[in-house]
Amino acid sequence: LRLVVLISGGGSNLRALLEASEDAEFPARVVAIGADRDADGLAHGEEYGIPTFVVPFGAFPTREQWGAELLAQVRQWDADLVILSGFMRLLPPAVVSALAPNLLNTHPAYLPEFPGAHGVRDALAAGVSETGASVIVVDDGIDSGPIVAQRRVPVLPGDTESRLHDRIKLVERELLVQVVLDIANSHIDLKDL
Ligand code: GRF
Repeated sequence: LRLVVLISGGGSNLRALLEASEDAEFPARVVAIGADRDADGLAHGEEYGIPTFVVPFGAFPTREQWGAELLAQVRQWDADLVILSGFMRLLPPAVVSALAPNLLNTHPAYLPEFPGAHGVRDALAAGVSETGASVIVVDDGIDSGPIVAQRRVPVLPGDTESRLHDRIKLVERELLVQVVLDIANSHIDLKDL
């Protein structure tokens, strides 16, 4: 399975996929890594000798033109699956319709609870005793697409946003690797969701 992973930050979930693909048995390969900015996580690509590309959001007059360039770059890699992992931009509908359903996003909450850019902070502020991690198919909304997989993560007394987010990320990574495995082995068919 050919994967293109898009990031905006540290790419810890991306790293989990790269580490998983070191196992020759793992039926997926990250063929390229893209970002909307000069993300720290691009360094993982350099370390693993994987091509990276940046389509800077600020370099385009409109979201649509940025999206068109991003789509053109993604398409060069003949990906079977595009994964947004810590990618903090909303894709224009034209990009979503061109790529979905082979377009996944990871989110650090138990969707549909706490969608959006501050899911961890929102869960903490809500005082819930458990939140979660989710992998969804991207649609035109914000974290509103069909849920592919999700798992509960406890919120512990004294949790800060970063401590809770780190606990969630551990689960997020396992979930993402498992989903990629299930798709590669046809245990999940994204067209069925
Ligand atoms: C992840 O929890 C992702 O779901 C969320 O932001 C975090 C990014 O982490 N959107 P990283 O860049 O993968 O380390």
